[in-house]
Amino acid sequence: MSLDSLLRGMLIRLLAGETGVALENRVPDLDGRFSHIEELGLYLHIPFCRQICPYCPYNKELYSPSAASQYVEAVTREMDSYSRLVGDKPFTSFYIGGGTPTTMLDSGLGPMLEHIFKVFNMRCDIHMESHPNDLSEENLRTIQSLGVKHLSMGVEALQERHLRRLERPYSVDEVKAAVERAVGAGFECVNVDVIFALPGQTLAEVEEAGRELLKLGVDQVAAYPLFTFPYTRMGREAGAERDGNSGVLRRRKMLRVLEEIFYGAGYERTSVWAFTRRGVPRYCSVTVPLYLGLGASAGSYLEDVFFLNTFKVSEYISSLEKGRLPIALSMELSERMQMAGWLYWRIYETRFSKSAFRNRFGREFDSVFGRYLTPLSWFGLLDDDGEEVVLTNAGTYWLHVLEDLFSIDYVGKLWGGSQQEPWPEMVVL
Ligand SMILES: C[S@@+](CC[C@H](N)C(=O)[O-])C[C@H]1O[C@@H](n2cnc3c(N)ncnc32)[C@H](O)[C@@H]1O
Ligand code: SF4
Repeated sequence: MSLDSLLRGMLIRLLAGETGVALENRVPDLDGRFSHIEELGLYLHIPFCRQICPYCPYNKELYSPSAASQYVEAVTREMDSYSRLVGDKPFTSFYIGGGTPTTMLDSGLGPMLEHIFKVFNMRCDIHMESHPNDLSEENLRTIQSLGVKHLSMGVEALQERHLRRLERPYSVDEVKAAVERAVGAGFECVNVDVIFALPGQTLAEVEEAGRELLKLGVDQVAAYPLFTFPYTRMGREAGAERDGNSGVLRRRKMLRVLEEIFYGAGYERTSVWAFTRRGVPRYCSVTVPLYLGLGASAGSYLEDVFFLNTFKVSEYISSLEKGRLPIALSMELSERMQMAGWLYWRIYETRFSKSAFRNRFGREFDSVFGRYLTPLSWFGLLDDDGEEVVLTNAGTYWLHVLEDLFSIDYVGKLWGGSQQEPWPEMVVL
């Protein structure tokens, strides 16, 4: 057993009180599962891209107009199946992710959104991902006419050599122009994703990218270190030397450079990865703890059950054509696991209040997790004033390391496995 898996096993046992976590090929009984829920988030997955980037772990396939039009019908069917179960529960957060949602700007995104707003009680703005090459002036107007108020795009890097290495289909000047157009278009928040700790990247290059983004006036920067997922092309090429040139200390230094730039310019840390201009509503994926996911590979979490749709677009479509929900895997969660999941996501946001835990679970936070938090505050990883818990910069960094330990392995097993087998019998995490 590697040190990684030993540590992972220990953490799962410690936090969730379980020895292993398994998802099974079973459609859960959803009757009555929405009745206690006060508010929900909605996630819509668009699994199409105009290119397949070698580093990307997300579920996607090459865009084709015919697949897109069948997809619109399937998502519409899926919404209709849920509308009876969900009733008029309010959705207070809505996120459209991918793949690349902007591939469907002219092939059904509008009608899908209209249907969502017709069948569900939507009480929120729309947050949506986009690709820089799709952000012409005309497309930006279309995006706004759909009601999108918060826009994100994958810039990835601001040096030609890194853009070439990542096989991104634009030059530095082109992507900067796309960012400028988006920033000037009047969204409430424009987020750009960048990746650091790229092969051979220097600290000076990270600093240059950070300063350029600041000059371009973006509201938020989500900066991820390059994760090499074993099932991506880059992951396969990197093989065993996954951390070769992006080791822990190197990443920490790069993150420090970004922290200095963005804190210095008045941005706040709003999640493990994101810096947001103070006063701007942060761009993010679903912001409430419970959510329903629509589309191929979308996940849903309703208090005591988590379930995941099949990843394969053709299977997703044919399942709904046959009148069946496209759920491939599900897992019932014990109360202890729900609490551990709650803590994981709140820590990911870098802060939480203990009263929110009490409201959700009817138990005192300290009686459940207090003994794990106290040593962390001794080590300066978090500040705990008795009610609010806030991660320090050092705490956030170590959370990155933990994330790396968990996410790469879990995502590899769950997403990598589901991309190979549309209806897996079981996935053990
Ligand atoms: C769905 S894409 C963004 C939208 C659009 N498809 C695009 O490429 O511009 C999600 C983002 O996740 C980040 N990402 C993808 N693969 C990554 C990896 N292996 N390591 C770190 N970040 C990654 C990238 O910043 C990417 O822009
Ligand atoms: S990074 Fe974006 S464009 Fe590239 S494959 Fe992933 S989702 Fe598609």
